Amino acid sequence: MKTKSDPKNGRRSIGGWLFHPLAACLGLGVLAGGCARLPATGLQCENLRSEYLKDPLGIDAASPRLSWIVASGRRGEKQTAYQILAASSAELLDRNSGDLWDSGRVASGETAQIVYSGKALISRQCCFWKVRAWDRDGHPGDWSHAARWEMGLLAPQEWSAHWISAEGGGSAAAPALPKDLAAPQMLRKSFVLNSTIRRGVLYATALGLYDARINGQRVGDHVLEPDWTDYRKRVRYQTYDVTALLHRGDNAIAALLANGWYSGHIGNGGFQFFGKVPAFLAQLEVTYSDGRTERIVTDAAWKWHASPILSSDFMLGEDYDARLEVNNWDQPALDESQWAAVKLRFESMSLEAQVMEPVRQIREIKPQKTTESKPGCWIYDLGQNMVGVVRLKVSAPAGTKVTLRHAEMLNPDGSLYTQNLRAATSVDHYICKGGGLEIWQPRFTFHGFRYVELTGLAGQPASDAVTGIVIGSDTPRTGEFACSDARINQLQSNIQWSQRGNFISIPTDCPQRDERLGWMGDAGVFIRTATYNADVAAFFTKWLVDVDDGQSAEGVFSDVNPSTGGGGAPAWGDAGVICPWTIYEVYGDKRILERHLPAMIKWVEYLKLHSNGFIREKDRGNDYGDWLSIGADTSKELIGTAFFACSTDLVARSCKAVGRMEEAAKYEAWFQEIKAAFNKRYVGADGRIQGNTQTAYALALKFDLLPGELQPKAAQYLEDDIRAKGEHLSTGFLGVSYLLPVLTQSGKAGTAGRLLLQDTFPSWLFPVKHGATTIWERWDGWTPEKGFQSPGMNSFNHYSLGSCGEYLFGGIGGIRPASPGFKDILIDPVVGTGLTWADTRYDSINGTIATSWKLDGTSLQLKVVVPANTTATVCVPARDRAAITESGKPVAKAAEVKFVRQEKGKVVLEVGSGTYDFASKLE
Ligand code: BGC
Repeated sequence: MKTKSDPKNGRRSIGGWLFHPLAACLGLGVLAGGCARLPATGLQCENLRSEYLKDPLGIDAASPRLSWIVASGRRGEKQTAYQILAASSAELLDRNSGDLWDSGRVASGETAQIVYSGKALISRQCCFWKVRAWDRDGHPGDWSHAARWEMGLLAPQEWSAHWISAEGGGSAAAPALPKDLAAPQMLRKSFVLNSTIRRGVLYATALGLYDARINGQRVGDHVLEPDWTDYRKRVRYQTYDVTALLHRGDNAIAALLANGWYSGHIGNGGFQFFGKVPAFLAQLEVTYSDGRTERIVTDAAWKWHASPILSSDFMLGEDYDARLEVNNWDQPALDESQWAAVKLRFESMSLEAQVMEPVRQIREIKPQKTTESKPGCWIYDLGQNMVGVVRLKVSAPAGTKVTLRHAEMLNPDGSLYTQNLRAATSVDHYICKGGGLEIWQPRFTFHGFRYVELTGLAGQPASDAVTGIVIGSDTPRTGEFACSDARINQLQSNIQWSQRGNFISIPTDCPQRDERLGWMGDAGVFIRTATYNADVAAFFTKWLVDVDDGQSAEGVFSDVNPSTGGGGAPAWGDAGVICPWTIYEVYGDKRILERHLPAMIKWVEYLKLHSNGFIREKDRGNDYGDWLSIGADTSKELIGTAFFACSTDLVARSCKAVGRMEEAAKYEAWFQEIKAAFNKRYVGADGRIQGNTQTAYALALKFDLLPGELQPKAAQYLEDDIRAKGEHLSTGFLGVSYLLPVLTQSGKAGTAGRLLLQDTFPSWLFPVKHGATTIWERWDGWTPEKGFQSPGMNSFNHYSLGSCGEYLFGGIGGIRPASPGFKDILIDPVVGTGLTWADTRYDSINGTIATSWKLDGTSLQLKVVVPANTTATVCVPARDRAAITESGKPVAKAAEVKFVRQEKGKVVLEVGSGTYDFASKLE
């Protein structure tokens, strides 16, 4: 195998998510410099966002939720009140006139999920807003900088655009029906703007994928728009400010239109699952300086033409013939005689605004190594398994056909290992037009790869012929973790890369083979880890609507969403409850619970109806069990019942969170009944659980299914089994995410540490030891003894087994929410257990939380950053209270530090916001 890379290299960077060595980040960025820049008094409101997004255009939430972060260098700082001004223009806001909303001084410590409560908002409304906050002494801070949001088109009648598609008509260049239905088309219309332009806004979407262009320039920086949804029910439109692209006089608007998820190949669904021919919808609204408005919409006047993209498909790749390029196809002046009239289409799905960060190009990767595997066959190693496309740079005679093949791994003979791609051939072709340097990258496909094979050129390609272009949903990076073991740092890097590469419009299982689906079980086990690595609130806000769309009338959640059918598997279906609950816990988002509670309730009602005496004996759909567990078979019925309990418990808590107390009581009572049934059926008087598997214990302990007296016994059996397996895990997708937290909470952090640092098979570090740069689907995707696992199921980029990332942040870093949205924080780091230091940072919705600990023998240093306007319970590992100092002073004398209690091996303190520098002696 040729994939070895030095795991000691540790930290890699993933674009947009630049990975600074954490020591530097924490030490300089947060612990020292960050706070030093802040004023000692007065609160600054920063990071203003609307519906989780920074200055979003075209949102359709009638009452958007606003959030900000208050910053202060002072310990124990709090916001005691806030005032929000929202104005219809920047000038009014500047004059402190909130003509849309002046909240007045609101006595409140909340800074997130603040519901806009001003004048009713109408379509296209521009809202400029700012906020100020009063500190703990009642002093108001300065007004924040101005932020904005803009409303989208709130009703169907706001659209005068028609769906158009490239069908019918006919000429030499535009045959009556595309020869090959996988061929993207060019669409266009020219128009005149007869005055100077104040503003231009484009609303656009497609059934399929589009790239919009105005006057020869690309609109926006999104790729693969619109997001994947269940197009039978809804499609999301994007809003772009295109003022800078327009001018008085002749203009042209154009688009490339491709199949994408709508009518290309999708895993399980095959070809043309949602529809046969893609369609485009666009409405350009221009406001002239004198206030007059003009609309240019997709209509019968648009024309279409075959494009140089001969075919494009997520699974198959993209073919491009540069000789077929039509010069100035997206410019006003063009001879349209070879262009055919478009066909108008009627579509009835609902049109809704995009609500999350778009997919973007995140970064570029240069190859680390090039080899000529056989004459004329060049293999590039990018050094990182990534998701995206290759940018090709070549100079070759016209007609030269360059072929790019992609793979995650190499065969022992150095050739590409592509068997695991199954039917996803993932091949791009580029036919040169000749005459100089040509730069090309596919637009409507993506691949999962580390290696690229280039053939078709005479002679050796230039050193910059191949560049990896990484794409992903542009969820802002929120977490950094680094510790004293470079292998764990590589593991964390692998988790981030697998998250990046699989959060493409929806959370997918894998990015390379012919699957790439929104598998629920995978998302359900990984979501908590995902929230540490990135701000995924908006991303899940969108996907959870797809999840509801896929629910059957009787309440069955589909196993994949957007749904291609089938559903109801334990854990996979339960993700329909686990995911909204997690978003509530992490971001304090009650609206997501309110939006999804009907679906969550329907699911548990379905489970009750399809169980016997609360045991999930039947109707478990395509039950996958503890998928890909290793040498341990946990009863599927037991797993089903445990997840039934988990969902019911979370539904009860969700009802409570939104004030639906009667229902909360009903489901809480059900939860108790499921627990009783679980114990009766599966748990012995000695605490042994049927099957004695790690997953059975992990689920029972995590979901609180055991009576208190049996919990330590169950934890002991769990530990015994790990020991009996030579400090190895045996869990699959389901057990794995709970294993380390459950062990630690049961007082067995040492065992958790040994599991985490284990590098013989099966373990998290086994792939790392063998050069993995992403998380593998299987514990044994490749082994020195057997080589590759069966190619039918052998992805090297699957985040599920990376759900241990939660433990890096929440366990070793010790950063966990004590109340929804991290308004109250629990800092409870696991120190030692094989590591000598760990630096962890998490940008919560309430501000940046950080911990940094270093162990030297029995001396511990623990630095903690608690953001303004939050409180933290800090568990300082220590012999006793007297063994702790803070900033060199006995902890009893430290400002803003309150002693709560002493536990075995740690002292529990309560602190307000600020930076704390503890030192302690351990036992
Ligand atoms: C996917 C998984 C998914 C599973 C269901 C696989 O093919 O890749 O990640 O959860 O099917 O068992």
